[in-house]
Amino acid sequence: MKLEVSHTILNIKDSDVIINFYSEIMGFKLSDKGLIGGSGPEIIFMSQDEDEHHQIGFSVQRENLENSTQLNHISFRVRTFDEVKEVKRRLEDKGLEYLPLCHGNALSLYFDDPEGNTLEIFFDTPWHVIQPQTEIWDPNMTENQALAWVEKTFKDKPDFSKKEDSKREFVNRT
Ligand SMILES: [Fe+2]
Repeated sequence: MKLEVSHTILNIKDSDVIINFYSEIMGFKLSDKGLIGGSGPEIIFMSQDEDEHHQIGFSVQRENLENSTQLNHISFRVRTFDEVKEVKRRLEDKGLEYLPLCHGNALSLYFDDPEGNTLEIFFDTPWHVIQPQTEIWDPNMTENQALAWVEKTFKDKPDFSKKEDSKREFVNRT
């Protein structure tokens, strides 16, 4: 058996604000929305993958934004470094704050959605390193500069290796 993570549903308060944010900043498309059981609460389904009806969903049943949802963060991988830059640009265009963190194995931006749910966008580096690791990185660097910085910053940490090597080790774990 192999479980594959499929989707996350967040409880939210304001569907218009949330749909706009997840469309404009995160690039999701609306798949469907409607009232559960015909009378509510409203549920909104969004995806970026035609094979996945919803990767993220929102149930409009959060009463106030003061109470934390207890969610730590949801993380999304992008395939190119330029897409991290694109999200950075979109956030900056809207005057939204982000925290650039590098875990050695990934170059990430962390930021909050309009209801305080923390999101992460990350680009994989070619390396594995023992976790957890957290260093602030400069997202104005080019891809080559950033990868050179990652290697320099993490190469002396335990388990620093090419990702292929650490994958092989994981597969052999019981
Ligand atoms: Fe994360």
